[in-house]
Amino acid sequence: MDTRLDGLRAVVTAGAGGLGLAITRALVGEGATVFVGDVDERALANLPSAVKCAGVDVSDPGAVAAWLDPIAASGVDLLVNNAGIAGPTKPLEEISADEWRRCLAVGLDGQFHCARRVIPAMKRQQSGAIVNVSSTAGFHGMPYRAPYVAAKFGVIGLTKTLAMELGRHGIRVNAVAPGAITGERMDRVIAAHAEAEGLPREEIRSLYAEGTSMGTFVDPEEIADLVVFLASARGKRISGQVISVDGHTETLYPRAYDQSDKKRMGE
Ligand SMILES: NC(=O)c1ccc[n+]([C@@H]2O[C@H](COP(=O)([O-])OP(=O)(O)OC[C@H]3O[C@@H](n4cnc5c(N)ncnc54)[C@H](O)[C@@H]3O)[C@@H](O)[C@H]2O)c1
Repeated sequence: MDTRLDGLRAVVTAGAGGLGLAITRALVGEGATVFVGDVDERALANLPSAVKCAGVDVSDPGAVAAWLDPIAASGVDLLVNNAGIAGPTKPLEEISADEWRRCLAVGLDGQFHCARRVIPAMKRQQSGAIVNVSSTAGFHGMPYRAPYVAAKFGVIGLTKTLAMELGRHGIRVNAVAPGAITGERMDRVIAAHAEAEGLPREEIRSLYAEGTSMGTFVDPEEIADLVVFLASARGKRISGQVISVDGHTETLYPRAYDQSDKKRMGE
């Protein structure tokens, strides 16, 4: 199957680490020219020299404009809105307004800021693709992760709406919904959950895997493969979709293991 992307001009947010790095590598491997914006200057410096890097916080609309406007002036074929932070793991009433705002500012506002800078160029071209990174939490919900879940549900609403607005311009908009990805970020999320629940980390880790039909985590490269497919001509009739790469999530949070609920109910 031909998924070569020679000549494709791609923008990847948070493309210097984690899932974004796997996506950047996959796009470069298929021949795309890749522009990466990330807050981690040290990680940016380690990217392959072919990648065009910028230090950008996607929650800052001025910084996003300064980064993307010159790129968009020469045309953009693909935007991968990947940046998103985990946010706090706490009962809602313990989450501060600043924690809430920061999680939404990066994970949802950031996608808005980036999309609005590249859409005019894509409309001029009458072609383009946007891939927004959501999460299986973006349609299942997840206790103690309210701002993250709200951001990821929001990403799906943004995706559906943009697909409607842009389809007649030849622009496709889809969301990918990763399950639990192997790597440092999930290690941190598991540690926070284990602390919030008073359970061993390995128990929480196995709960994430057991909640899927295939009993699995996913590797970042497996999600990057889907992004490549959606960016390629093979995906040319796919728009407005939310596609999971997760081994089929049955539940993200089995109630039987919710220690906080048990405490509240006096068990
Ligand atoms: N890790 C998972 O299990 C998982 C599961 C479902 C969805 N996701 C989503 O996948 C995406 C990538 O997650 P990840 O696991 O690679 O995360 P990560 O925490 O490993 O971070 C990846 C990169 O994001 C950059 N970054 C952080 N804040 C930024 C900002 N404000 N602006 C620009 N760059 C920023 C970091 O510097 C880092 O290079 C996120 O949207 C995340 O919500 C992750």
